[in-house]
Amino acid sequence: MPFASVAVTVSRVGGALGVSTWASTAPSSAAAAVRVESAMAPVCSSYPGGMDRPVALVTGASRGIGRAVALELGRTHHVLVGGRTAEAVAPVVAALPSAEPFVADLAADPVPALPARLDVLVHSAGVEDGGRVADTERAVWERVFAVNLFAVAELTRAALPALRAAEGLVVPINSGAGFTSAPGGGVYAASKFALRAFADALREEERGSGVRVSTIHPGRTDSDMQREKVRREGLEYDERYVLDPDSVAAAVRLAVDLPKGGTVESLSIRPTRIR
Ligand SMILES: NC(=O)c1ccc[n+]([C@@H]2O[C@H](COP(=O)([O-])OP(=O)(O)OC[C@H]3O[C@@H](n4cnc5c(N)ncnc54)[C@H](OP(=O)(O)O)[C@@H]3O)[C@@H](O)[C@H]2O)c1
Repeated sequence: MPFASVAVTVSRVGGALGVSTWASTAPSSAAAAVRVESAMAPVCSSYPGGMDRPVALVTGASRGIGRAVALELGRTHHVLVGGRTAEAVAPVVAALPSAEPFVADLAADPVPALPARLDVLVHSAGVEDGGRVADTERAVWERVFAVNLFAVAELTRAALPALRAAEGLVVPINSGAGFTSAPGGGVYAASKFALRAFADALREEERGSGVRVSTIHPGRTDSDMQREKVRREGLEYDERYVLDPDSVAAAVRLAVDLPKGGTVESLSIRPTRIR
């Protein structure tokens, strides 16, 4: 695994500790959760399936960073595994002790049913596209912003009552491109700058409710997205210069495990070696 370096900003917030229980309004989701949980060691209490885990929703969990985050949080949480098709999320759901699919094209479909309490919402679904400004048509800008910003805003809005009920945590997976913009990368960077602005506003708006917002800024990370980017750059893919997705998942874990009186507000994690 490549070495990595991390920069973290932490703040205090108000809000008491809370234990969450699942109260899905979606019968099919509940059935899936019961099915998966029933294969586990003894659990307790308030959910019909006996589940007593905090609940995490991870978008983009079929592949790449989101998949690594779902697997990491699956050690402690019941995970809603986000992806565009049931086939794509099924292997991740099957790999976890307590999980269920959360299937939607977040740029096009209505937000699926959400639980009444949500402890963690990780926005990892994202796309990278576009070229130089002179060559990039409006449709490309709209496609990238639809996934990287508008879908994040809409899902967050829908989830806020459940997040407030649990004094939960929102984790937008941003990028180094949320801080710097380079030739040929303006579309993606603009969407990630906007995502940072969204997250900073949300953090301040929800400070009184106990909902926290932890933005993670990974550098280049081994995934389909990164391999495609390197191919377009005309470079040879070299794993020495990318983060392991598990390193990003470890950064998310840090934010999730911090006691609720503090917030990891912004965390940058970059490969130690940079080409
Ligand atoms: N890889 C990097 O170097 C890097 C660095 C910094 C930040 N990031 C950010 O990290 C996040 C994850 O990137 P990644 O590298 O893991 O990408 P990836 O391997 O290409 O995976 C992208 C994920 O997003 C999902 N997705 C895309 N469009 C969607 C839509 N319209 N609705 C629902 N889900 C959608 C995909 O689902 P399907 O399987 O259904 O397509 C997939 O699960 C992104 O936000 C990216 O900007 C990546």
